[in-house]
Amino acid sequence: MERCETLPIPRGWFAVAHSDEISVGEVQKVHYFGEDLVVFRTESGEAGVFEAFCPHLGAHLGVGGKVDGETLRCPFHGWGFATSGECVDIPYAKRIPPGVRAGGLQALERNGFIFVWWDPDGSEAWYDVPEVPEALSDDWSSPDRYEWKVSAHSQELAENGVDQAHFQFVHGTLAVPASESTEEGPTRRTFAPIEMKTPRGDVNGGIETHMYGMGFATVRFTGIAETLEFTSTTPIDDGRAHVRYNFIQPKVDGKDPEGGVAAALIRDIVKQMNEDVPIWENKKYLPRPTLCDGDGPIADFRRWCEQFYPDSAG
Ligand code: FES
Ligand SMILES: [Fe+2]
Repeated sequence: MERCETLPIPRGWFAVAHSDEISVGEVQKVHYFGEDLVVFRTESGEAGVFEAFCPHLGAHLGVGGKVDGETLRCPFHGWGFATSGECVDIPYAKRIPPGVRAGGLQALERNGFIFVWWDPDGSEAWYDVPEVPEALSDDWSSPDRYEWKVSAHSQELAENGVDQAHFQFVHGTLAVPASESTEEGPTRRTFAPIEMKTPRGDVNGGIETHMYGMGFATVRFTGIAETLEFTSTTPIDDGRAHVRYNFIQPKVDGKDPEGGVAAALIRDIVKQMNEDVPIWENKKYLPRPTLCDGDGPIADFRRWCEQFYPDSAG
């Protein structure tokens, strides 16, 4: 796609499904990174992700393929593949041809998402996506979920967080909170302190974002409505991205919070996303933008992103 020809598909951990979308024994087709993939869950509960086409004669493993114990069986001739991709059974052969394997991708389940490690150059995962304890806690609500498919490159979406000036013009935010960012290899932390005026006085809060590569971030809002947002952004191809927002909040009297400031906060973040989409879908990526002193750390952020572009992409 011409609008973003200079940005390839990044590598790293990317969500391909919500965990509860793939139950035990289920096989689903998905399309990410410009590739057909299948996601499945074995009988012991392990999630597996394969490139879709069987190495035998090319059947689509997600169209009629079945989970059989700890393997995924091809619908065409019944070959069975372990979650690693290794072929472990051919029902009608005496010997399995050496080295035969489906395109098994490294998978990881965290915070209610199934992630895959995507790198066309074939590297092993070189960073982790941590489990956030609140995601599993009974004291926090079940996730309130939102999804978008956006015709824009993942980096353009992620850049929004450091683009301080747009908040005023796109989202109508009055004061732009100055934020500070620190990086450590593939992770990046940003904190923006926020002072809120409430009928009961000023409340000091903040927005703390942790990015784990370009595919996943946690955003913690503190102050009047404590909220944790899990954001996944997965390239569908080099011009589109699938975004998932999962919000959790502390339960009130053992129940998910309803209405009030807690709901208003989520509504506002979703509204902001909807306001950003038309800008992203019609903008052009400028590799050498003209920036001014009031802009956020955009150049800095882009430098951080470079580590996620595969060497083979030049
Ligand atoms: S094509 Fe998959 S087993 Fe033959
Ligand atoms: Fe925005």
